[in-house]
Amino acid sequence: MAVIAICSGKGGVGKTTISANLASLLTLYGSTLLIDSDIALPNLHTFLGLDDPFISLLDVLKDESYLNEAIYRVKLRFRLNVKELDVLPASTSVKALEEIDMNKFKNIVEGLRNRYDYIVIDVAAGLGKYALIPIVSSDDVYLVVNPEKASILDSQKVKKIADISGVRVKGIIMNRYKGEKKMVEYAENAIGAEIVGIIRDSNLVRKCWEEGVPVVVKKPQSNIAKEFFNLTRKIVGEDVEIKPYGKLRYLLG
Ligand SMILES: Nc1ncnc2c1ncn2[C@@H]1O[C@H](COP(=O)(O)OP(=O)(O)O)[C@@H](O)[C@H]1O
Ligand SMILES: [Mg+2]
Repeated sequence: MAVIAICSGKGGVGKTTISANLASLLTLYGSTLLIDSDIALPNLHTFLGLDDPFISLLDVLKDESYLNEAIYRVKLRFRLNVKELDVLPASTSVKALEEIDMNKFKNIVEGLRNRYDYIVIDVAAGLGKYALIPIVSSDDVYLVVNPEKASILDSQKVKKIADISGVRVKGIIMNRYKGEKKMVEYAENAIGAEIVGIIRDSNLVRKCWEEGVPVVVKKPQSNIAKEFFNLTRKIVGEDVEIKPYGKLRYLLG
C-alpha cells in the first residue's frame, strides 16, 4: 500500500486536477482513497460532483470518531466498468479553521493505511502546516509544475524540505504542457527528480470539472486521458517511457 502526496510550491498549477484523475485511475488497480488536505481552500469535492460536505476532514481532525461518516463513496462510470473511489473531503469553514489541530492528520492517515491499496493526498501549495504535515504523513511525494521557471523553482524549495524531512520525492509531474521540451529537462535538473508524467493543457479539463466528472472517466479516449493513464502506470511501477514531445505534436493532438 502507498500513501501518495500531490504537492507544489505554487498554487493553481493543477494539484487537484491531477489528484482526482490519478486517484480515479488507481481504482482500476486497487482500493483507493482520495484525501483533500488543502484545508484553507478545499475544492476537491466539487471536482468529483459532491456537494459541500456536511461532515469532513475538519470534523475528523477534531474528533476521530467522525472518520467513517466523513468518507464519501463516488461511483466512477468508466466505459467498461464501474469503480468506486472513496473521498475524504475538506469543507470551507473559516470558524473551524481556527480550531484545527493538523498534528492529528498523520494519525488519521496511519489509521486508514490498512484499509486501502492507495491513498492519494491533494496537498495545499507551499510550505505551511497544511502542506508540511501531509507531506511528512506520506510515503511518496510528487511535485506538480507548469512549464515555467517560477513554478519549477517554487517546487525546488518543496523538494529541499521533503529531503530534509526524510520523505522521498519520487517524481515531477509537468501539467499544462504545450510542447515546451526544454522545460522538462530544466525541471529535472533544477528539482533533481525524474519526470513521471507530462499532462497537456486542454480545455477538456475545465469542461469536465464543470460537470463534476474527472476527464479520465468522461473522455477516456482523449489525449489528455492517455497522458493520465501513463502517469498512473508509472506511479504503480509499470515500465512506461515518459517522453517530452514538441509543439507540433501538441498542436496536432
Ligand atoms: N491540464 C490542464 N489543462 C487546462 N487547464 C487545467 C489543466 N490542469 C488544471 N487546469 C485548470 O487550472 C486551474 C487550477 O487547477 P487546480 O487543479 O485547481 O490547481 P491547484 O489544485 O494546484 O490549485 C483550474 O481552473 C483547472 O481547470
Ligand atoms: Mg487544489
